[in-house]
Amino acid sequence: MLLDGKKVSLEILDDVKERVSKMNVTPHLAVILVGDNPASEIYVRNKKLAAEKVGIMSSIIKLDANIKEEELLHKIKELNNNPNITGILVQLPLPGHIDKNKVITTISPKKDVDGFTPENVGKLSIGIEPYFYPATPQGIIMLLKKYNIKIEGADVVVIGRSTIVGKPMAQMFINNNATVTLCHSYTKDLEDKIKTADIVVSAVGKKIVRCKMVKKNSVIIDVGIFRDSNGKLTGDVDFDLVEPTVKYISPVPGGVGPMTIASLMYNASKVY
Ligand code: GUN
Repeated sequence: MLLDGKKVSLEILDDVKERVSKMNVTPHLAVILVGDNPASEIYVRNKKLAAEKVGIMSSIIKLDANIKEEELLHKIKELNNNPNITGILVQLPLPGHIDKNKVITTISPKKDVDGFTPENVGKLSIGIEPYFYPATPQGIIMLLKKYNIKIEGADVVVIGRSTIVGKPMAQMFINNNATVTLCHSYTKDLEDKIKTADIVVSAVGKKIVRCKMVKKNSVIIDVGIFRDSNGKLTGDVDFDLVEPTVKYISPVPGGVGPMTIASLMYNASKVY
């Protein structure tokens, strides 16, 4: 069966819209975009459109690719101190001369809608409720829960160890009492690990999960999104071959992508 991220995301966005309409303050998300990475421009535009739909104010702050690191940090501090701004998101990747970690560390944890700051990551790690969970892993957990997929006690394989998806995903599964194996480019015998998993989350950006690897009746979440040699949008999973074997699978597009946006809007609707 298909994990219909598009449909579930609309339900979540409806809930967020209702919540926002009852709030005393209108949330205001500031999105910083440095340079002109075409993919980032599309992502940022989609975030703005989603915010508009649910009644969240948003401002895109476009900064020159050559901006000095210091100036960017100064801009973030200004937003931290601006009481009208309730959420701050710095779109990644950043130009090479800017230290991403310095940027992330500068964002106020209470406005960190991406959940990337050390305080929020640390809270997630030690099991205290963070102000915000990272959008993609949170969206995936929301999707699994909507379909009543049992996480507790499940054997989970997460492929990819990024700060944005893989690491927080593994942590969130652990906090939900799953047994987690976090795989990456140095993992030996990836196939053996996937074969015994009840839930597989692949966040690699390459066609990596093939039919013979997956367990019967398992759940497959495909975070990857890229264009194949024919220019068609596709994910990490060989969908047509895997689908008959598994119980649930998220499509690309229409799976994790819309859930990430909905999850981010859920975060952006929180005001501390
Ligand atoms: N670039 C790719 N994914 C993300 C994300 O979740 N947040 C930010 N800020 N940048 C990204």
